[in-house]
Amino acid sequence: MSHLELDDIQGIIARGYSNLEAAAYVLLHIKDAPLARQWLGNLANRVQTSQERPYDHCLNIALTYKGLSALGLHQTTLSTFPTEFQEGMTETNRSRILGDHSENDPKSWLWGGTDPQQTKVHILLLIYATDDRQLDEFYRTLSDQFSQGGVELILKLDTFALKDEEGEFREHFGFRDGISQPIIAGLNRVGSPENTIKAGEFILGYPNEYNLLTESPRVKPELDPQNILPTGEFGSHDLGYNGSYLVFRQLSQKVEEFWRFLEEVTQNPDSSSNPELRLKLAAKMVGRWPSGTSLVQSPDQDDPNLIDKNDFAYHHLDAQGFRCPIGAHIRRSNPRDSLGPAPGTQRSIAINKTHRLLRRGRTYGEPISPWFDPEAILNNLNQEKRGIHFICINANISRQFEFVQHTWVNNPKFNGLYEETDPLVGDRHPGKLEETNTFTIQGTPIRKKIKGLSQFVVLRGGAYFFLPSIKAISYLASI
Ligand code: HEM
Repeated sequence: MSHLELDDIQGIIARGYSNLEAAAYVLLHIKDAPLARQWLGNLANRVQTSQERPYDHCLNIALTYKGLSALGLHQTTLSTFPTEFQEGMTETNRSRILGDHSENDPKSWLWGGTDPQQTKVHILLLIYATDDRQLDEFYRTLSDQFSQGGVELILKLDTFALKDEEGEFREHFGFRDGISQPIIAGLNRVGSPENTIKAGEFILGYPNEYNLLTESPRVKPELDPQNILPTGEFGSHDLGYNGSYLVFRQLSQKVEEFWRFLEEVTQNPDSSSNPELRLKLAAKMVGRWPSGTSLVQSPDQDDPNLIDKNDFAYHHLDAQGFRCPIGAHIRRSNPRDSLGPAPGTQRSIAINKTHRLLRRGRTYGEPISPWFDPEAILNNLNQEKRGIHFICINANISRQFEFVQHTWVNNPKFNGLYEETDPLVGDRHPGKLEETNTFTIQGTPIRKKIKGLSQFVVLRGGAYFFLPSIKAISYLASI
């Protein structure tokens, strides 16, 4: 296997910077290309690489297709980017594939949408620091340069580090988040073979799970006279090498509605609450207990000894979904060994490995209840917006993110299911409600169908970004 060039790979690929609790995502528009190229060139040596863990603050940079074009990248190079990246997240067909209609329609997004009045997103700065004060200071040093750097601020998306009593990260519905991640082969961490994924699934220029190189954008040699980029196939220069793609979706969570629904469908016959059943149904929808413990490993109650466990598969322990429902969020978004044609085999795992996502998002907005107490959530009057800035990294957006979103998360026909989408994050299509608003809990003697789920997560903005290598950033600055 080729050695990973960590000093040329942006750091967000190797780590999520969990030690840097404060983070913000800064969306910029290019107003003056020559100034912006110079500004980018000056930033290149401040960009955090994968070589080492940052201790106080750090910066990563990504660009949209429109951003690369606005910067002046040659048309012959732009045309070598994959179609989905060229078209962007809001192209009509892509919206259909992704379930971005009705409440999720890009027409009403806060940023990145199709409203002609909306300023186009060109650049994303991902900034991190140990605390908010340090982050503000770091942001100020960057934003001081925006106007003379030919770029204009569109929006700064703040985050809020949500933690439980044990100091573990949670999302707003109250579940521990960030547990299951693929291990990138060749990076320092070691994991099970089933969860170790070839670097080419997340970094361009290295073999992927097909033992091939993932399609990478190319530059004609004469357009790189300083030979900044490495030479790729057929003598062209490889703009993608050591880079990747970053998918960003601002997902707003209707936390109260989620718990209200759970409350209503689990009440006792006398209309009193049944907190135990309510929690169990929530866990069935996620596939883990709020602590993180997987339902496959502990189906009937939470087990604090298993919260970190991620070394499980589905087929041998739970082929029928009696422990973790087939349609639970984590089983849809990473079915591990459970999909046909040969569930439980190496073949099933091998197919699954071609659809993995490296999640790097963060939560935003204050929690309703600091300890995620459902009672407090049900009595909430606080209307503040909250959710996840969902970010995932993948070398092939259509085969990885779009496939997971379309064919697993939002597909009513999934692994024997036929009238439901992901219970937690799925799209409830107003025109096809009967096919999208059910959740089946497999069981004996009979399965149980929970009806009438509403849409608990709504998309408020998004875009596809190219995450260039350090050399590619220098090249972009040189054009
Ligand atoms: C607001 C929206 C979302 C919430 C609240 C949410 C919540 C969670 C939770 C609680 C977990 C389990 C903990 C963990 O392993 O980290 C999880 C895992 C996961 N989620 Fe989500 N998620 C959201 C959106 C999405 C979306 C849109 C996708 C993909 C299209 C996705 C893909 C995944 C994947 C791949 C895993 C890991 C599954 C595994 O390997 O077992 N999530 N999510």
